[in-house]
Formats: sequence, C-alpha cells, structure tokens
Amino acid sequence: MVELTPDTIEWENLDFSYIDTGKSFRAYFKNGQWSEGEIVASKNISISEASPVFHYGQACFEGLKAYRTKKGDIQLFRPDQNAERMMKSAERLLMTPYPKEAFIKAVHELVRANADWVPPYESGATLYIRPFLIGVGDIVGVKPADEYIFAMFVTPVGPYFKGGLQPSPFLISEFDRAAPNGTGAAKVGGNYAAGNLASKLAKDKGYADAIFLDPATKTKIEEVGSANFFAITKDNKFITPQSPSILPSITKYSLLEIARDRLKMEAIETDVYLTDLDELVEAGAMGTAAVITPVGSITYADQKHIFYSETEVGPITRRLYDELVGIQFGDIEAPAGWIQKVDF
Ligand SMILES: Cc1ncc(COP(=O)(O)O)c(C=O)c1O
Repeated sequence: MVELTPDTIEWENLDFSYIDTGKSFRAYFKNGQWSEGEIVASKNISISEASPVFHYGQACFEGLKAYRTKKGDIQLFRPDQNAERMMKSAERLLMTPYPKEAFIKAVHELVRANADWVPPYESGATLYIRPFLIGVGDIVGVKPADEYIFAMFVTPVGPYFKGGLQPSPFLISEFDRAAPNGTGAAKVGGNYAAGNLASKLAKDKGYADAIFLDPATKTKIEEVGSANFFAITKDNKFITPQSPSILPSITKYSLLEIARDRLKMEAIETDVYLTDLDELVEAGAMGTAAVITPVGSITYADQKHIFYSETEVGPITRRLYDELVGIQFGDIEAPAGWIQKVDF
C-alpha cells in the first residue's frame, strides 16, 4: 500500500476513514495526578490486559474538527464545549476527567503539529480530532480504574454521509442505543457498540443509517445514527428532540442559536412524535461528522414518510447549512467565543 502524505493525498476524494498522520497526543493519570501530556510519534498504545476499558467499557471520547480558512489560517469550532462535555461523560462513568484547559491546550498543540494535514479550503474536507479517555491498569473486579490515559489523534476526513447535502433515507430501528436513565447523554463507547447492530441492519437494506426512538415509549424520534435530529415545521419552527437519553450535540445548540438569531425563526427543543411527521416540511441530521445531512425520508413499519424531497435539499436546511459551515470555515462572522484560531 502506498503511504499517504499531505503531498499525495486527494483531499477532494476523502471519506470518513482513518489515516495515520504520525503525530498523536498522550497524557497519563497515575498516583492521583495527570502527567504533562506530550506529542508522540506512534499510533499504538500499550496497556495491561486487565484494563477496565477492555472488559467493563470504561471509555469516553469526543469529536471535533479543525477548518482551513480562505486566508489559509486554521481554526477550531467551540473546542471548549467538547472539553466540558468530555468531563461530564467521564464523570458519568466514574472516570477521572481530563481538565478543560489542558484539553483545549492539547487540541491546539496537536493540530499545530499536524498542520500539513489540515485539508485546503473548499476541498470539502476537514481535520477530524478524536480525543479519548480510557480506564487502564490491573483490575479484575467490576470497579472504576485508578489509572487513565487521555489520548488524541487527528485524521483528515471528507463527508460522513455520502453525498453531502444530498438527502439520505433513514430507517427507524426496533433497537435502543441507550436506556431511559442510562448513558445516552454521555459520549461513551458502550452506546456506540449498542447501536452498531441497528446501523448495520439499516445499511444492509440500503438506508444511510438507523433512527433511534425514545427507549421509554418508542413514540418519539431521538437520534439519527450518531447525529441529532432536527425538523422544520409547517409553521416555520426549528424543532429538535428533547430527551435525557440524547447526546447534547454541540452542532444542535449552535443551530438552535443560528435559527433563532440569524434566521429569525422560533427554535425549540421539544418532543418529536412519529405520529406528527406530517407537520414537518424539512428534516435533517446534525453533528460534527454529519454537519447537516438532509433526511429525505424515514421508513417505519414498512411505511415511507418523505419530507421535502428525496433528491433535493430544502431551502431552510440549506440556509442553516450555509450559515453553520460559513462560520466554521471563517467566511461568516461567528457569535462571540465560537471560533478559536490555531496560532503558529
Ligand atoms: C450519538 C450522537 N449524537 C449526536 C452527535 C452530534 O454531536 P456534536 O454536534 O457535538 O458532534 C454525535 C456526534 O458527536 C453522536 O455521536
């Protein structure tokens, strides 16, 4: 296999796959304190076979991106929000959180070290940043670890769902990704392991991914694969599900503000019942990886519900996309505090 380098890579043809950039970040928690944290030259991690991450799922992670601007600068979108969410995820699993300021500093350091891997402006690609925290050490009984590794890698990525702003079809799953009072609101590995089967069954049938319903009543839309759901109602409201088992998406909170402040729409978190789909004129999935992916249709109990169109993006979804992506790439002024430049 030919090794990819920033000089040989075809940025326009990237999908959402891993490419080793050669530089990662590691920090270790041992004897009650975090090590300084450093950039390392290996993608491998060597840990005890008895580490709780292997057996009892003590793992949480984050996902954010670095964007190349028109001027050639590199910028981050709300990394403080990822730092805070990761601390909450860690606390839910009784893990030692990695401190917020150290997280943000590590993101800047690692992106700076991998600057050549940040795709060019208008290539359709970005540098995906994956911080993660795992429980390690010699433990056999079910209990939290005493030692942790906070690690981070970066990898250049293209669109998560093929087709970018092309609408995709989704299938409602019978499976749940999280329990009513479980870990759905935390970004923990187990939620994704639990969702894999639903996702595979949907993809095997030609859908882009599975949609999960609320685990308690199975009547409301929760997550679209690994993204939050939004819809535009007939009376021009931006709505997105509200539930304790949904991951609090940073893209979701950003779009709520964009819809309210820039599109002058009413924007609310509320229940989205399957029985009310006829009230919705556009629908989409939103997240760091998914950006905004229009939901063309939802199939449930062999019935297909089509939203705006199965082939064309709706006008409000497009405006939300243009505004969000314009902010992320530095073409449109961002609300205060949303953008952090990576300094050199
Ligand atoms: C289950 C799930 N929901 C929603 C999201 C979107 O969250 P964010 O906008 O913070 O990337 C993600 C991706 O991080 C996710 O994994």
